[in-house]
Amino acid sequence: MSVPAVLTYAERVYSGKKPYLYPIPFVPGSSAVGRVAAVGPDATRLKPGQLVYFDSYIHGRDDTTSLILHGLSAGFTPSSNMLMEKAWRDGTYAEYAKLPLENCFPIDEARLLGSLADGGMGYTMEDLVYLWTLSIPFGGLREVDVRAGEKVIITPATGSFGSAAVVAALAIGVRVVAMGRNMEALERLRTFSSEDRLRIVQNTGDVALDIEELTKDGLADVFFDISPGKAAKSTHFKSCIQALRRGGRVSLMGAHEGLSLLTQTIMLQDLTVKGKWMYTKEDMRVMIKLVESGYLKLGKAGGIETVGIFSLNQFDAAFDAAAKLSGPCLQAVIAP
Ligand SMILES: NC(=O)c1ccc[n+]([C@@H]2O[C@H](COP(=O)([O-])OP(=O)(O)OC[C@H]3O[C@@H](n4cnc5c(N)ncnc54)[C@H](OP(=O)(O)O)[C@@H]3O)[C@@H](O)[C@H]2O)c1
Repeated sequence: MSVPAVLTYAERVYSGKKPYLYPIPFVPGSSAVGRVAAVGPDATRLKPGQLVYFDSYIHGRDDTTSLILHGLSAGFTPSSNMLMEKAWRDGTYAEYAKLPLENCFPIDEARLLGSLADGGMGYTMEDLVYLWTLSIPFGGLREVDVRAGEKVIITPATGSFGSAAVVAALAIGVRVVAMGRNMEALERLRTFSSEDRLRIVQNTGDVALDIEELTKDGLADVFFDISPGKAAKSTHFKSCIQALRRGGRVSLMGAHEGLSLLTQTIMLQDLTVKGKWMYTKEDMRVMIKLVESGYLKLGKAGGIETVGIFSLNQFDAAFDAAAKLSGPCLQAVIAP
């Protein structure tokens, strides 16, 4: 049995409205939590029956620049496309999936699924699937070396990955400024931490006013962005870059064509701008440790809500529910 995640824009990808490349026919899918049914001869640790987190970001074994998102995207180079066409074509929206060994991370079942009375955390498989939403911003935060005690501006903080960035950053131990346009959605983040660890700031579109609010408690160390392409003209890029201290870092995880950044400020302030697609295997291991140690909470304890659990033949309802998610820390999952 496995429980895979559902992307908010899954319907647009699989209907072809969003131009993702994948071979046809294929089985769609995503990262998932599941049990090992069988292992290949090169397995040294994994055993049938074991609970694992499957990370859908697959790297070529003989060329680590060949990269695909299993069940979603054949990547951006001919060698990546080949990886998906041949060995790793079919995703996890199925009863069983063939997966690369190195993408299956063992998770401590007794600790995570065990009951509170037995010293466990009482999570469900669905709770654990949120690891996928978390993993993406977790990779972007670590890529700019976010450290405990730093001040990090996260925007947009109301979407699926942006709100997960807030959860991940708080677990790392930073002071978060969560920025977004929608005050009502931002307000829902308040329960995640106290005011001294988590402040919310509205993106009003007035750059001077927004900088003043962002820097009320000092300049920030990091600006983390995971906005969609349609936000390319949003003023938050200007206000957040100008809210950084000298030597600050910018993590860009959103995909925008024609984005213009304040290059003069970036140069004069010695800012580092880093793009990041996904995360590293080490990021995955650190994130799982944070969950197993209890610093990164999932499910109800972490303020994360699963709004729908759909069977395989309800995939269209799952895509619809994911597209309609509105507000922080929500997910829809498929449970074949
Ligand atoms: N780098 C990577 O590895 C990676 C991986 C996956 C996804 N992504 C990127 O992440 C993006 C977000 O995905 P998601 O699933 O989190 O989307 P989502 O749940 O739909 O959230 C989108 C967010 O963007 C905000 N927004 C929309 N239009 C805006 C605008 N014009 N100006 C400012 N903010 C705006 C929304 O805020 P409001 O509440 O104000 O509307 C919302 O918070 C994707 O589009 C993709 O580019 C990157």
